[in-house]
Amino acid sequence: MASLQEQIQQFEQEINSFVPANIAELEDYRIRFLGAKGIVKQLFGEMKSVPAEERKEAGQVLNGFKMLAESKYESFKSLQETTAAKGPAIDNTLPGTPMPIGTRHPLRVVENKIISIFERIGFSVATGPEIEDDWHNFTSLNMPEHHPARDMQDTFYVSSDPAWVLRTHTSSAQARILESQPLPIRVICPGRVYRNETISARAHCFFHQCEGLYVDKNVSFADLKQTLYYFVTEMFGEGTQVRFRPSYFPFTEPSAEMDISCTVCGGSGCNLCKHTGWVEILGCGMVHPNMLRNFGIDPEVYTGFAFGMGVERITQVKYQVNDLRLYSQNDVRFLRQFQSI
Ligand code: PHE
Repeated sequence: MASLQEQIQQFEQEINSFVPANIAELEDYRIRFLGAKGIVKQLFGEMKSVPAEERKEAGQVLNGFKMLAESKYESFKSLQETTAAKGPAIDNTLPGTPMPIGTRHPLRVVENKIISIFERIGFSVATGPEIEDDWHNFTSLNMPEHHPARDMQDTFYVSSDPAWVLRTHTSSAQARILESQPLPIRVICPGRVYRNETISARAHCFFHQCEGLYVDKNVSFADLKQTLYYFVTEMFGEGTQVRFRPSYFPFTEPSAEMDISCTVCGGSGCNLCKHTGWVEILGCGMVHPNMLRNFGIDPEVYTGFAFGMGVERITQVKYQVNDLRLYSQNDVRFLRQFQSI
């Protein structure tokens, strides 16, 4: 007959590789190893025949074996109990619960599109602070104190120090570029701007702009027109018509407003174009010589063009959003509609 040690080794191997397929097999295991007539009991019975001097060591080995047999049983038993408490076993082949994926905000989608269109022709992106000083928002842009053009934009002043304003346009970021970057300059400045307007479907106290600036030798109005024509074609599609109307901005001369043929009716007249066939999308012009001088640039050597558009306006024209308030109400039914664009 195999020695006690050998028997234990063999049983240990059996226990280590034991995995019950079901609760009945686990019960068989319990009876076989731990039952009243089980192997553990039997082996303890055999201790009598172990010579006295080896008994202590054999007892330790046997106790270890008993613990192994019991812990194996306990671990499967508790596993079985927790699975039973959880209900039926998990079917790992079932598809998972889908996680709702967020969507980009429509204004961000359009802003990204504007940026990528201009990046393709060499414009880089510049940003600036939303709280601005008077110099960058007004004075340096050819709007000295008491200039009537300051009233074109209803400004929020910082109450503790009215020398600071919430920027009314991102032209202020362009002023910062002109003051810090070497020429030539070719940037677009996207960002949030603030104006003291009563909130309605057509006005809001904040909105988003993307303004562009190009200053170099020999920049002409023809360059401005061609750049904006390229933008319109990329943004609204081939065949979109453009027209320029003379306008006034203190920082550009000459100045213009640009209209595009209505994207909804194609020109025959609808609500978006107020039955004119045209929708205004941006202001633009050649950078005013005074503004260049303010930044130490000689207007006899350098010329430039600038333009500024509202991101909300472009989004409205492109996707027929007719209430500005929708952009900041965080209604997912509105926001989800832009999932695929
Ligand atoms: N800054 C002007 C505005 O906010 C837009 C503009 C920019 C016009 C550049 C002309 C040139 O209304």
